[in-house]
Amino acid sequence: MSENEVEVPEIREEVSEKEAKVSEIRDQVPEKSLERKEVDFMIYLDHAATSFPKPPAVIEAVTDALTNTAANPGRGSYALARQADTVVDRTRQAVKTFFSMPPSGHVLFFPHATGALNQVIKGFPFEPGDHVITTSLEHNAVRRPLGFLEADGMISVSKVPWQETTDAILEKVEDALRLHTKMLIVTHGSNVTGDIWPIQALGELAEAHGICFVVDASQTAGFLSINMETAGMDFLVAPGHKGLLGPQGTGILLAKSDAYDLLPQQHGGTGDSSESMGLPQEWPGRFESGTMNVAGIAGLYAGLKVLQEHGLDELQREKQTLTTQCVEGLRAMNHVTVYGHRSEQIALPVVLFSIADVDAQEAAMILDQSYEIAVRAGLHCAPDAHKWAKTPAGGGLRASFGWSTSKDDIEALLKAVSDIIQAYHGA
Ligand SMILES: Cc1ncc(COP(=O)(O)O)c(C=O)c1O
Repeated sequence: MSENEVEVPEIREEVSEKEAKVSEIRDQVPEKSLERKEVDFMIYLDHAATSFPKPPAVIEAVTDALTNTAANPGRGSYALARQADTVVDRTRQAVKTFFSMPPSGHVLFFPHATGALNQVIKGFPFEPGDHVITTSLEHNAVRRPLGFLEADGMISVSKVPWQETTDAILEKVEDALRLHTKMLIVTHGSNVTGDIWPIQALGELAEAHGICFVVDASQTAGFLSINMETAGMDFLVAPGHKGLLGPQGTGILLAKSDAYDLLPQQHGGTGDSSESMGLPQEWPGRFESGTMNVAGIAGLYAGLKVLQEHGLDELQREKQTLTTQCVEGLRAMNHVTVYGHRSEQIALPVVLFSIADVDAQEAAMILDQSYEIAVRAGLHCAPDAHKWAKTPAGGGLRASFGWSTSKDDIEALLKAVSDIIQAYHGA
């Protein structure tokens, strides 16, 4: 091997061998994912994308619904359809309780947070010339619908850059206000840097200026306790499949009331008013055309119960300990840059880092193929956040932790990163 060549443990194995191994592993998933302890074939550190594995209670609830109750809710008067109604209704109720919603509130189900965000952004009763304030850390699920309306000439958008203190953030938002500002839409916690925006203070500011306040809680729901009643927000969005521990195919839009006349983004069968061309007026049915994901919603209900039983505060403490372990471990290494986590303030269990002169995709591939550690490389659907963080051109490596992550998992990641540095930099 020449001096300039890099030796990485096991990376030179035959691709076909790896594929065979991956397919062998995949065959084992249904049995093994019942218990976290048995999922010993890989270390999953991509909880910011979706939580995996799901808790056994969630898997059982989905299986039970698919076996016993997943008829078409809101459509039939027969017993099974009524049972499906019950599954959906009790989950709406559990969501309301979980987020301390006011009695006037509505819970709308969507297939993902993106669907819920599109509904509230593109369905908002904007008028040409309206203005929206958002942040420099938004996911494309906010950035693109806003960009779509902006390109259409409907709205203009101002992006407030991240600041270290609440006062500085409020000042920037105040500076961005215009006569026709109608909406302030903010990601509660960044899926890239882990930074958390002060939604309580922002809600008060929005209320004082009579602006609609929308919070994308995709990363914080299930991590931080969120009180819709006191946090002054008009709409809250969350995926069911990340921190809330439900299955993929679930997302929710919480509306404080029906004060904003949202335009439904889907038109179709709702099970009632079938003779009319128009959608029913009532919320939530007005926004939920099409057959609902009863099994997914049953799983989401189970996910919420798991969180309540374990206790959100306790879970948050556990994840913070792991995050600190990871950040400190990485910061102690030469050739590693950790983004965000600059202050003592609470941050999400999301750690973005890069290794000098190592392409993020290549490092993620090595972590996967040689160490069976799953992390996410690239721009994480949030290019503005990467620009803000000043990551290298190919983005960074993101390790994100969830209910099933252990101290040993973090140690394994740190060891693997240290090996990669050794291989590339020799120190
Ligand atoms: C901050 C943020 N918003 C929105 C989304 C979109 O969520 P979903 O994939 O459920 O549409 C994500 C997903 O990663 C996210 O991190």
